[in-house]
Amino acid sequence: MRLPIIAANWKMNTNIEQAVGLVEEMRDGLDKIEKVEKVLCPPFISLAAVRELIADSSIKLGAQNMHFEEKGAYTGEISPLMVKDLCEYIILGHSERRQYFGETDEMINKKVKAALRAGLKPILCIGEKLEENEQGKTAEVVTRQIKAALAEVVSPLGLVIAYEPVWAIGTGKAASGEGANTTIGFIRRIIAQLYSEEIAQAICIQYGGSVTSANVADFIGQPEIDGALVGGASLKAEEFIGIVEQTAAAKG
Ligand code: 13P
Repeated sequence: MRLPIIAANWKMNTNIEQAVGLVEEMRDGLDKIEKVEKVLCPPFISLAAVRELIADSSIKLGAQNMHFEEKGAYTGEISPLMVKDLCEYIILGHSERRQYFGETDEMINKKVKAALRAGLKPILCIGEKLEENEQGKTAEVVTRQIKAALAEVVSPLGLVIAYEPVWAIGTGKAASGEGANTTIGFIRRIIAQLYSEEIAQAICIQYGGSVTSANVADFIGQPEIDGALVGGASLKAEEFIGIVEQTAAAKG
């Protein structure tokens, strides 16, 4: 049985005071929910403060991006080893990074390898754009993204995949539970082809894109979907706790 993972991607929201306030609001409610891995991914500047607040809880910490080199003259960047000082998880290849910061499949592959090397658990984001979806290219796009991201990765154990169709992110237009389940089942078969059925069955694959407490049950009720990567709704304590509670009820 795969442990479901609900991760909060706060993106470029909250200053330190707000992040601390949000964690204080969610911490006790989240902490007591069992059989779900709960991960908070605040902006870099709040990682240390959030880490302290969740230190004695069951809540895990993640960052939203990193460079693939361990150290050096890369002004403005954060290395895998620095992230590892504070975090267990690292979001990689988010569509916003691909779209606004020119991240390519090749760069994401370097980051995935560096993260695994550093002992971090990558949350690798993949997903098709609206026009790709309309052209029936979803399978082709996710196959390319997965194969490229995992090139030369000997074992992807520890990796989490987040299937986030770009057209569903921040639009309020979530995929259907069934549609997401089909694509996630397809992604699992790619992993089985690349590695083994056993590894494919062990890897957690989340859905992301306009997940709320009102629709999370549609996703979590599906057999292939192992949790969610939540953007907007993770910035509201009650909403996010509700999402995790429903996941525990459905999968627990
Ligand atoms: P929203 O939940 O705001 O659509 O964002 C999804 C996302 O991109 C999480 O990484």
